Amino acid sequence: MFPLGLLRASALGVLVLCSLSACGSSEASKQQPVQTVCAPTAPTECPDPSPRYPDVAPIFERRCASCHNGAKDAPWPLDNYDHVADWATVVRDELLYCLMPPPDSGVEMTPDERQAILVWVRCGSPE
Ligand code: HEC
Repeated sequence: MFPLGLLRASALGVLVLCSLSACGSSEASKQQPVQTVCAPTAPTECPDPSPRYPDVAPIFERRCASCHNGAKDAPWPLDNYDHVADWATVVRDELLYCLMPPPDSGVEMTPDERQAILVWVRCGSPE
Protein backbone atom coordinates (compact mmCIF):
# COMPACT_ATOMS: atom_id res chain seq x y z
CA MET A 1 0.00 0.00 0.00
CA PHE A 2 2.66 2.45 0.99
CA PRO A 3 4.68 2.40 -2.28
CA LEU A 4 1.55 2.85 -4.37
CA GLY A 5 0.43 5.78 -2.29
CA LEU A 6 3.86 7.35 -2.62
CA LEU A 7 3.80 6.86 -6.36
CA ARG A 8 0.44 8.55 -6.66
CA ALA A 9 1.49 11.37 -4.41
CA SER A 10 4.59 12.07 -6.47
CA ALA A 11 2.69 11.85 -9.76
CA LEU A 12 0.28 14.39 -8.39
CA GLY A 13 3.19 16.55 -7.32
CA VAL A 14 4.58 16.56 -10.85
CA LEU A 15 1.18 17.53 -12.22
CA VAL A 16 0.84 20.41 -9.79
CA LEU A 17 4.40 21.57 -10.41
CA CYS A 18 3.81 21.48 -14.15
CA SER A 19 0.68 23.55 -14.00
CA LEU A 20 2.39 26.09 -11.76
CA SER A 21 5.51 26.45 -13.89
CA ALA A 22 3.84 25.92 -17.28
CA CYS A 23 5.99 22.87 -18.07
CA GLY A 24 7.10 22.62 -21.67
CA SER A 25 6.05 26.03 -22.83
CA SER A 26 9.08 28.12 -21.85
CA GLU A 27 11.04 29.95 -24.55
CA ALA A 28 13.96 27.57 -24.05
CA SER A 29 11.95 24.47 -24.76
CA LYS A 30 10.48 25.98 -27.93
CA GLN A 31 14.01 26.19 -29.27
CA GLN A 32 14.67 22.50 -28.68
CA PRO A 33 15.12 20.44 -31.84
CA VAL A 34 12.43 17.85 -32.50
CA GLN A 35 14.71 14.84 -32.07
CA THR A 36 12.33 12.29 -33.52
CA VAL A 37 12.22 13.90 -36.94
CA CYS A 38 15.43 15.93 -37.00
CA ALA A 39 18.65 14.68 -35.42
CA PRO A 40 21.61 15.58 -37.62
CA THR A 41 25.15 14.84 -36.55
CA ALA A 42 27.84 17.46 -36.95
CA PRO A 43 30.28 16.20 -39.60
CA THR A 44 33.79 15.89 -38.21
CA GLU A 45 35.64 15.64 -41.50
CA CYS A 46 35.38 16.69 -45.11
CA PRO A 47 35.15 13.90 -47.69
CA ASP A 48 37.45 13.79 -50.71
CA PRO A 49 36.33 15.00 -53.18
CA SER A 50 34.64 17.79 -51.30
CA PRO A 51 31.11 18.81 -52.27
CA ARG A 52 30.91 22.19 -53.99
CA TYR A 53 28.25 24.87 -54.14
CA PRO A 54 26.54 23.44 -57.26
CA ASP A 55 25.98 20.22 -55.28
CA VAL A 56 23.98 21.98 -52.56
CA ALA A 57 22.50 24.93 -54.48
CA PRO A 58 19.40 22.93 -55.52
CA ILE A 59 18.72 22.16 -51.84
CA PHE A 60 18.84 25.87 -50.91
CA GLU A 61 16.57 26.55 -53.84
CA ARG A 62 14.06 23.85 -52.86
CA ARG A 63 14.06 24.29 -49.09
CA CYS A 64 15.08 27.85 -48.35
CA ALA A 65 14.53 30.19 -51.30
CA SER A 66 10.74 30.22 -50.99
CA CYS A 67 11.29 32.50 -47.97
CA HIS A 68 14.90 33.65 -48.41
CA ASN A 69 14.46 35.18 -51.83
CA GLY A 70 15.26 38.84 -51.20
CA ALA A 71 11.67 39.89 -51.75
CA LYS A 72 10.48 42.93 -49.89
CA ASP A 73 9.89 42.20 -46.18
CA ALA A 74 11.29 38.68 -46.58
CA PRO A 75 14.45 37.42 -44.85
CA TRP A 76 17.62 38.22 -46.77
CA PRO A 77 18.28 36.11 -49.86
CA LEU A 78 19.95 32.70 -49.82
CA ASP A 79 19.87 32.30 -53.56
CA ASN A 80 23.46 32.66 -54.70
CA TYR A 81 26.91 31.57 -53.60
CA ASP A 82 27.99 34.82 -51.94
CA HIS A 83 24.82 35.13 -49.91
CA VAL A 84 25.00 31.56 -48.67
CA ALA A 85 28.77 31.59 -48.04
CA ASP A 86 28.57 34.86 -46.07
CA TRP A 87 26.11 33.19 -43.73
CA ALA A 88 27.66 29.71 -43.76
CA THR A 89 28.33 29.38 -40.03
CA VAL A 90 24.88 30.69 -39.11
CA VAL A 91 23.34 28.37 -41.72
CA ARG A 92 25.22 25.47 -40.12
CA ASP A 93 23.86 26.26 -36.66
CA GLU A 94 20.31 26.73 -37.91
CA LEU A 95 20.46 23.34 -39.66
CA LEU A 96 22.28 21.53 -36.87
CA TYR A 97 19.76 22.68 -34.26
CA CYS A 98 16.81 22.13 -36.59
CA LEU A 99 15.70 25.76 -36.48
CA MET A 100 15.52 26.14 -40.28
CA PRO A 101 13.36 25.60 -42.19
CA PRO A 102 11.17 26.81 -39.31
CA PRO A 103 9.56 23.67 -37.81
CA ASP A 104 6.10 25.23 -37.97
CA SER A 105 6.44 26.48 -41.57
CA GLY A 106 5.37 23.26 -43.24
CA VAL A 107 8.57 23.31 -45.33
CA GLU A 108 10.15 19.88 -44.91
CA MET A 109 13.73 18.88 -45.52
CA THR A 110 15.08 15.34 -45.74
CA PRO A 111 17.87 14.24 -43.37
CA ASP A 112 20.11 13.70 -46.42
CA GLU A 113 19.60 17.26 -47.63
CA ARG A 114 20.33 18.66 -44.19
CA GLN A 115 23.45 16.50 -43.87
CA ALA A 116 24.67 17.46 -47.36
CA ILE A 117 24.69 21.16 -46.47
CA LEU A 118 26.36 20.48 -43.12
CA VAL A 119 29.13 18.55 -44.88
CA TRP A 120 29.55 21.34 -47.43
CA VAL A 121 29.94 23.93 -44.65
CA ARG A 122 32.36 21.60 -42.84
CA CYS A 123 34.46 21.58 -46.02
CA GLY A 124 34.71 25.37 -45.85
CA SER A 125 31.72 26.04 -48.17
CA PRO A 126 33.74 25.84 -51.43
CA GLU A 127 32.30 27.61 -54.47
C1 HEC B 1 9.01 29.38 -44.21
C2 HEC B 1 10.01 30.41 -44.45
C3 HEC B 1 11.46 30.02 -44.28
C4 HEC B 1 12.12 28.95 -44.84
C5 HEC B 1 11.58 27.87 -45.74
C6 HEC B 1 13.49 29.08 -44.40
N1 HEC B 1 13.65 30.17 -43.59
FE1 HEC B 1 15.37 30.79 -42.71
N2 HEC B 1 14.39 32.34 -41.82
C7 HEC B 1 13.06 32.62 -41.99
C8 HEC B 1 12.73 33.80 -41.18
C9 HEC B 1 11.34 34.44 -41.08
C10 HEC B 1 13.92 34.19 -40.56
C11 HEC B 1 14.13 35.39 -39.63
C12 HEC B 1 13.58 35.14 -38.28
C13 HEC B 1 14.27 34.03 -37.57
O1 HEC B 1 15.50 34.10 -37.35
O2 HEC B 1 13.60 33.05 -37.18
C14 HEC B 1 14.94 33.27 -40.97
C15 HEC B 1 16.25 33.32 -40.54
C16 HEC B 1 17.26 32.51 -41.01
C17 HEC B 1 18.65 32.61 -40.63
C18 HEC B 1 19.24 33.65 -39.71
C19 HEC B 1 19.11 33.21 -38.29
C20 HEC B 1 19.76 34.22 -37.36
O3 HEC B 1 20.14 33.77 -36.28
O4 HEC B 1 19.88 35.40 -37.73
C21 HEC B 1 19.33 31.65 -41.32
C22 HEC B 1 20.82 31.37 -41.28
C23 HEC B 1 18.36 30.92 -42.09
N3 HEC B 1 17.12 31.46 -41.88
C24 HEC B 1 18.66 29.85 -42.91
C25 HEC B 1 17.72 29.10 -43.61
C26 HEC B 1 18.06 27.95 -44.41
C27 HEC B 1 19.47 27.40 -44.61
C28 HEC B 1 16.89 27.49 -44.92
C29 HEC B 1 16.69 26.28 -45.80
C30 HEC B 1 17.25 25.04 -45.35
C31 HEC B 1 15.83 28.35 -44.43
N4 HEC B 1 16.37 29.31 -43.66
C32 HEC B 1 14.48 28.18 -44.75
C33 HEC B 1 12.16 31.95 -42.77
C34 HEC B 1 12.43 30.79 -43.49
